[in-house]
Amino acid sequence: MPHIVNIGSINIDYVYKVEHFLRAGETLQAARRNVFMGGKGLNQSVAVARSGLSVRHVGVLGGDGQFLYDFLKDSGVDITYLRLDPEKACGHTVIQVTPDGENAILYFPGTNHSVDAALVESALSDCDGEDIVLLQNEVNDVGHIIGQARAKGLKIVFNPAPFSARVLEYPLDAVDVIVLNETEAMGMLQTKQASSDHQSIVGMLHERFPQALIILTTGSRGLNYVTPGGEFGALAAYPMKAVDTTGAGDTFVGYAMRAIAHYLKHADKAAFEKLLHEAVAAAGLSVTREGAVNSIPPREEVARFLAEISQRKF
Ligand code: RIB
Repeated sequence: MPHIVNIGSINIDYVYKVEHFLRAGETLQAARRNVFMGGKGLNQSVAVARSGLSVRHVGVLGGDGQFLYDFLKDSGVDITYLRLDPEKACGHTVIQVTPDGENAILYFPGTNHSVDAALVESALSDCDGEDIVLLQNEVNDVGHIIGQARAKGLKIVFNPAPFSARVLEYPLDAVDVIVLNETEAMGMLQTKQASSDHQSIVGMLHERFPQALIILTTGSRGLNYVTPGGEFGALAAYPMKAVDTTGAGDTFVGYAMRAIAHYLKHADKAAFEKLLHEAVAAAGLSVTREGAVNSIPPREEVARFLAEISQRKF
């Protein structure tokens, strides 16, 4: 199996339980506050590690981030290219979570926007040709990083989260896999019109990015995908009681790397789908718990869950 090289964000998440999302001009009392480790990059690295794949995290932490550094290291993530800048502060978020588990996130990048080209260059120069670069949209210069990775002939998986108009300026024709949710898909397709016809959405994405394997996650409904060869597929989600959906997408992306790595090497749709079930189950389990990174299940739990589910069917 290849190594996953994740160039991504690390945040301190301040999570507030609220009755409803804050409205303009309103002062709202939160019922509870928790402080969690998070960031799409950190969450995805930990999910990759818990899925059993080897992962190297490339990024920058501030002086307040030693505990995040230690956590990644203790989670089995390779931190050779994780830097600490004592003069600056880490990225952080303010997350509101409603009683039905929905979230709204305010993001301050902090040192996630201090990832320089030299750090990326050293990390990529240390890659094996088989390694896969994983990217989200919370660090600076993502378009440039895509170019650097492509120049080295590395495979690239891009999760355009959170979506910003800048994403459309990135050299996306160099990306091998795009994993995105419905909001990000609307951004990529430059439309404000939501649609529940998920197969058509992946079809439109396929027309725009024909070289890429595209996986569209649709929350409690599951996912749709299309291969570069134009083969479509869909997987249903497992029914779960959602407590907090924060980090479910990251759990999915991290766990899906095994299926993606297999597909990139063998282009075998049946094996890809089989492996993808693990990612769907892991994301499902993650919504049953609070927080982002601490809700990511270990592989044994996912295997146990899938075994139980398969028995229920007989
Ligand atoms: O995807 C969830 C993550 O998004 C949170 O952990 C938060 O840090 C934001 O980056």
